[in-house]
Amino acid sequence: MDTLSLWRGTAPPTGYAMLNGDVTADVLIIGGGITGVTLADLLAEQKTPNKPKVVLLEADEIGTGTTGNSTGNLYQTVSSGMADLVSRWSPEVARQVAAERGAAIAFIEERCRLLPDVGFRRCNLYKWGDASSAKEIDKEFEALQAAGIAVQRQDSVPSPLPPAGSGVLVLQDQAQFQPQAYVAALARRAAEAGAEIHEHSRVIDLDLKNRRAVTASGSVTAREIIMATHTPKGVFLVHAEMPVHREYAVAFESQDGAPGPGTFWYGGSEQLSVRTLQAGGKQYVVCAGQEHKVGIHNATAALLALENLAKKYFGERTITHRWSAQNYRGADGLPYIGRNAQGIFIATGFSTDGLTWGTVAARLAAAELLGHKAAFADLVRPNRLSPVKGAKAIVEENVTVVKQLVKDYLTGRQDEKLAQLQPGDSAIVDAEGETFAAYRSPAGELFAVSNVCPHLGCKVHWNSVETTWDCPCHGSRFRPDGTVIEGPALSGLKRKHAPPLGGGDAG
Ligand SMILES: Cc1cc2nc3c(=O)[nH]c(=O)nc-3n(C[C@H](O)[C@H](O)[C@H](O)COP(=O)(O)OP(=O)(O)OC[C@H]3O[C@@H](n4cnc5c(N)ncnc54)[C@H](O)[C@@H]3O)c2cc1C
Ligand code: FES
Repeated sequence: MDTLSLWRGTAPPTGYAMLNGDVTADVLIIGGGITGVTLADLLAEQKTPNKPKVVLLEADEIGTGTTGNSTGNLYQTVSSGMADLVSRWSPEVARQVAAERGAAIAFIEERCRLLPDVGFRRCNLYKWGDASSAKEIDKEFEALQAAGIAVQRQDSVPSPLPPAGSGVLVLQDQAQFQPQAYVAALARRAAEAGAEIHEHSRVIDLDLKNRRAVTASGSVTAREIIMATHTPKGVFLVHAEMPVHREYAVAFESQDGAPGPGTFWYGGSEQLSVRTLQAGGKQYVVCAGQEHKVGIHNATAALLALENLAKKYFGERTITHRWSAQNYRGADGLPYIGRNAQGIFIATGFSTDGLTWGTVAARLAAAELLGHKAAFADLVRPNRLSPVKGAKAIVEENVTVVKQLVKDYLTGRQDEKLAQLQPGDSAIVDAEGETFAAYRSPAGELFAVSNVCPHLGCKVHWNSVETTWDCPCHGSRFRPDGTVIEGPALSGLKRKHAPPLGGGDAG
């Protein structure tokens, strides 16, 4: 299935040259999403003598990771709710989070004044549910007030949004933008100010001792390395703490019946997030649904469920864009931002709130690299120990990983003969004493790769919507030919030499 987000489909292209040769820099930023690009911009705008030489390496193109596949909403609260933060931490921490995120949104607004139009607008965020969530909504109202967020209550939302069975919380003066257009324009600004940006330059090896990152066509040696890769590359303690989920989104044109400006979050037995975008003289409605554990859900069914939900409220529509992306959630409700034990700056655990968290992370990293330590940095440092606040999520996550390892190695293997693999089909295949993750393209080409994730050895599962092999353990994802797309794995799935057709020993 073809997937392309509305943001990527309606933003101007970028177009930076691939890294070619060996270069040195003061700061190497790996990753060209909102975190990496914002940091590049903040460092590039410094005046000499403080101005560092910055190189940014992006594996694909600017914004094509999660940023350009998000929903483009900016808000002070967090999607798991302020009540969750208050109960895990305290009202004071919730206040700090709201203030830091509010400052990041104000920063984005200020940057947008310096950029071509990237669809930034201030608007309210509406949060409500069905009758089963009435109590939760009441509690959330109190937590939002305790966090110092301007919030009011109302009784209903306009049709065709899902009707309110609970109170409706109205968070005032939140915001939205076109995330792909924003990072593309911000990258252009950073490049014009001297940041060296390279696309199609995936880091395939990292020598942390010598501070050297290697791509297929060159290398960068830098005093400081920032992993703005959504989840850090390699083996990090934080991987064991972060559940990984995938979320699906669709967009359709609507001249009539679309809700007005706003971010609309409906939760209860159904979950739906709705917003609109004006682009190229058209009005689009964007709907996103509930999240699913990576690698252990049926991607086609999840997307279909979202399309049916959109149809239920907005009527029969022609879907113009379909996409999905994944998120990593901090075990204690906060992201992990700061230096790890090896002195590498990491920024992860943003959940579905990372357009704002990524901006917070870039501002914290810039402050630290320029010699000022922000007070908020302590709260989100990656090596914080919060055994009580995050215990449940860590245990649950490790149980998921262990279960997945055991299940995949001992049981439940889907064996099929390669010869039976039809165009568009995938399977885990045992043949000639080896196990393959096999996929036959619609044109008939057969891809056979190892089914063992090179990160820590879990078995990959097929994602029928994105046509990728996804690892359920820490979220690494791979193309049918084994090339790594995202996640902590640095290398791809090993290519295997497929045996002659019909050579399977199962069946
Ligand atoms: C469906 C969905 C909707 C969301 N909606 C919202 C929302 O409305 N509001 C909000 O605040 N947040 C939202 N989020 C979360 C938010 O999009 C992310 O947290 C945020 O975009 C992360 O930005 P990032 O720059 O850290 O990572 P990314 O945007 O993922 O950028 C990381 C980049 O690193 C690159 N990279 C990876 N490995 C390498 C390598 N080895 N070498 C070089 N480059 C590499 C990738 O190609 C990628 O471009 C949503 C998330 C999902 C899944
Ligand atoms: S992502 Fe960690 S084992 Fe696959």
